[in-house]
Amino acid sequence: MSKIAICPGSFDPITVGHLDIVTRGAKVFDKVIIAVLNNRSKQPLFSVEERVHLIKETTSHLSNVGVDSFDGLLIEYARQKKASAIIKGLRAVSDFEYELQMASINRKLDEEIETFFMMTNHHYSYLSSSIVKELAKYDADVSDLVPQNVQRALQEKHGRI
Ligand code: PNS
Repeated sequence: MSKIAICPGSFDPITVGHLDIVTRGAKVFDKVIIAVLNNRSKQPLFSVEERVHLIKETTSHLSNVGVDSFDGLLIEYARQKKASAIIKGLRAVSDFEYELQMASINRKLDEEIETFFMMTNHHYSYLSSSIVKELAKYDADVSDLVPQNVQRALQEKHGRI
């Protein structure tokens, strides 16, 4: 049976740190589905459709990676997709407490779906979508932090191109 993993997140927008986790996860699992949370309580910079589109462009070279969006509980979505795993990146100790809580809740909801953590490449340990948005707002260079299409999309959002 093929092993499907879900890589969930807000991805507002996807960064090279996310891409690193997805690329490494795709070497271990038969299929990785990047699942963008449609979180109505947050005020995102990019709509879900824009985020999905940017991720599709960025991962088009990865044949076993799919992109989708979801509402509601992650574990329900994972079950629906017949996934056996959730993959997450861990950047620093500060991520640990929240991620432990999420992994524990998800395990309580469904013991058959395992959460796997990958240590983020140390080059990206400081990187987050929020940092990227902050830098882009002030027109700082984010070319090392996000894929090219995302850099362009950020410039467009801020009316710079
Ligand atoms: O990129 P983010 O914002 O850190 O991703 C968080 C995400 C999407 C993984 C998390 O918020 C999530 O799984 N949300 C779905 C709701 C859910 O299942 N919550 C856990 C049980 S309370």
